[in-house]
Amino acid sequence: MDNTIVGLQALEILDSRGNPTVEVECTLACGVKARAAVPSGASTGVHEAVELRDGDPKHFGGKGVTKAVAHVNGAIAEQIVGMDARAQAAIDEAMIALDGTPNKGRLGANAILGVSMAVARAAANAADLPLFQYLGGPDATRLPVPNMNILNGGVHARWQGADFQEFMIAPYGADSFREALEWGSEIYHALRSVLMEKGHRVGVGDEGGFAPEVSSNEEPLELIMQGIEKAGLKPGADVGMAVDPASSEFFRDGRYHLRTENRTLNAAELVDYYEKLVANYPFVLLEDGLAEDDWEGWQILNARLGGVIELVGDDLFVTNVQRIKRGIRENVANAALIKLNQIGTLTETIAAVRTCSRAGWGAFVSHRSGETVDSFIADMTVALDTGHLKSGAPARGERLAKYNQLLRIENALGSAAHFAGKNAYVRPVRF
Ligand code: PGA
Ligand code: ZN
Repeated sequence: MDNTIVGLQALEILDSRGNPTVEVECTLACGVKARAAVPSGASTGVHEAVELRDGDPKHFGGKGVTKAVAHVNGAIAEQIVGMDARAQAAIDEAMIALDGTPNKGRLGANAILGVSMAVARAAANAADLPLFQYLGGPDATRLPVPNMNILNGGVHARWQGADFQEFMIAPYGADSFREALEWGSEIYHALRSVLMEKGHRVGVGDEGGFAPEVSSNEEPLELIMQGIEKAGLKPGADVGMAVDPASSEFFRDGRYHLRTENRTLNAAELVDYYEKLVANYPFVLLEDGLAEDDWEGWQILNARLGGVIELVGDDLFVTNVQRIKRGIRENVANAALIKLNQIGTLTETIAAVRTCSRAGWGAFVSHRSGETVDSFIADMTVALDTGHLKSGAPARGERLAKYNQLLRIENALGSAAHFAGKNAYVRPVRF
């Protein structure tokens, strides 16, 4: 098989919110072709790599990505065509050098990532290996706990519901990924019944979870507890909870503004609030409890809760090795969220996961609120053995694309597959 890259072709396609994004097709000399599509966030961290958008108000309200597409078809193709698709690190380094900025702002992280992912998939196809085995080798056998975001708030629900952005269930008590997904689906449907009984609307937010108009950020936890029980499962023993408040979105002038509760808190007061929630509900993970530059606040958070649950930095670390290393030095968290498009290449994403693992930290792989049916992260999660991921609700095609791919991987592995279960998190499940 000749793995030489002979073509790179990008296309402007639409994501799950109807906004443009980049798709790349990579062609090898042996005739193998592979495609990859780049996701896009809404509660984006300010330290993320740059998602290049055209800014032309006459084309998708400025959100077009034709410049990023042109960079793939032009400068990037010129540099990368002729390289061996298996030389992932060299290819990613060549693109980083070609871009020449610290944040991929010239060519666009969306352009660079599309190529990085398409090249990996082409090399896997040429090797006749599933992507998870190409990336992870014979050791890639552990299926992650799916943390399903069944109740949406914040910017993902246009601020019409909870301030906290994501309320996730963690069915870690299941015996397999398949069973965990089944439990998630049953809880999702039970939650819909609970909401309807209480007269709530059951429209969904960007990640497929319900987006009711609640009057506090604790009310969703109550509703979800009822959903778990209605589905015949035990909160704590069978299913835990994970929350991503995405607090950078409601942090202004040094304070955290809880609109639904009509009050503002400082970091220490918000940590008190979280501590109360952790005492009252079966929490296993809290992501972005504090804002992206509130390093002192994070230290308080980690001192109080870091021994009990997994504390994940998303906007704080943006999948960036330098920021994760600072977090390790300053002892502000015990895990990092892992999003390919926050940093812009597969190689740097793998480096971020390795940095976490070597420090005894967790690595929590994530989709974005704007997604496509590309299921790359499902394979990547198994390959890098991170033990847990989030891909939204067990509903909506672009969310299920990842969960369904994990069903296929589990099925293909057969008796070699094992489910991460209660060992998925960096702090042992307490129940
Ligand atoms: P985003 O949200 O994809 O809209 O940035 C996801 C998250 O905050 O984890
Ligand atoms: Zn987040």
